[in-house]
This record gives sequence, structure tokens and C-alpha cells, in this order.
Amino acid sequence: ELSFVHLFRPATIAGLPPVLLLHGTGGDETDLLGLGAAVAPGAALVSPRGQVLENGMPRFFRRLAEGVFDEADLRRRAGDLARFVDEARAAYGIDAPVALGFSNGANIAAAVRLLHPGLLSGAILLRGMVPLETPAAAARVPTPALLVSGERDPIVPAANAARLATMLEEAGGPVEHRVLPTSHGVTNADVEFAADWYARVA
Ligand code: MLT
Repeated sequence: ELSFVHLFRPATIAGLPPVLLLHGTGGDETDLLGLGAAVAPGAALVSPRGQVLENGMPRFFRRLAEGVFDEADLRRRAGDLARFVDEARAAYGIDAPVALGFSNGANIAAAVRLLHPGLLSGAILLRGMVPLETPAAAARVPTPALLVSGERDPIVPAANAARLATMLEEAGGPVEHRVLPTSHGVTNADVEFAADWYARVA
């Protein structure tokens, strides 16, 4: 028994980095399977369900308000997710994954990237924001990341997204930050940027 409810889809093409799918608030382990297949065709997909419930909606950590996070809970949950990644790697015989997260899933992916360097081989963060105001100084480990933000995202201010890109760069980079003329939801342009980045960088 692995520690998260999850789905696993084995690779159909050998040698591609596996993808860790991290859904947004109110999603579940089925949500991003289509996105994962579009971004990384043929790669193994590991898709856990967030273990926090907010009014019945699964998430990956607690928040006090929209965009205001319970950092102690976030640290603990990032540790739980890091352990799950190790479990999944052992159970399924897969390499270190590239995280592909949307919204709350992007935020837990960013926290895992900052708090557990080396656990992920890369990170694709759709509408991610700064997860922790004071991440502990961790070892710099180069880990490529793609951050895709929405210019008119009411949840993620432009300055916050830019600060996350800087934090990821300082943690070891390299970071590509794309800003789309859109809001919080995922668009076809996100899928295209993510697929291009995965094929080029991951
Ligand atoms: C979060 O709680 O992680 C952010 O507010 C994004 C969201 O899930 O709505």
C-alpha cells in the first residue's frame, strides 16, 4: 500500500522521464491524466490525490485564505509527498519524476522543489505562486523548471509569480517563465509550452 491514493500509468515509450501529476483544489487523481498524456506522450504517469479536504475538495496542503498558506502544514505535506515519490519510485521502478502541477498542485510542487532538492528531475508549474515565505536554505541543486503564469490571474499577482521564478533560479535553476494573456485556467497555450519544454528540457 502506497501512502497516497493514486493512479499509475506505465510508460509506453522507454527512456522518458516519468511525470508526477498534481491536481488543483477540488480535483483528484484522474484530473490531469489527459494533460499528462498531452504534455509527455508515452511517459509513465503517477497521479496522487491531495490528502487535505477543504469543504470536501481535495488539496495538497491547508490554506488560511485564497493565496494565504498554512506554512507549517505545507512543510509537513511536502515531506509526505516526497516520501510518496520515493515509495512510487521503488514500487514502480521509475526514475525521479518531473512534476506537472496546476494551481494548488503547482504550489506543492514548488514547495517540494525548494524543500527537497534533487527529489524531482524537473518541474512544470502552471499558475504557481510562492509557496513559502521563508524556505530553509537548502543545497543548490540544478533542477529545470517551467513556470507558466496568466497575466490576468486573479489568484496569482504578476509580482508573486516573478518572485517564485527568482526563488527557483536561486535554488539552482534553470527556470523558464512564460506569461500568457489569460487568467487562472489552463489553456491550449499552456499545454503547448509544457509539451515543448518537456520534449526539449526534461
Ligand atoms: C492554493 O491554495 O494553492 C492557491 O490559492 C491556488 C488554489 O488552489 O486555488
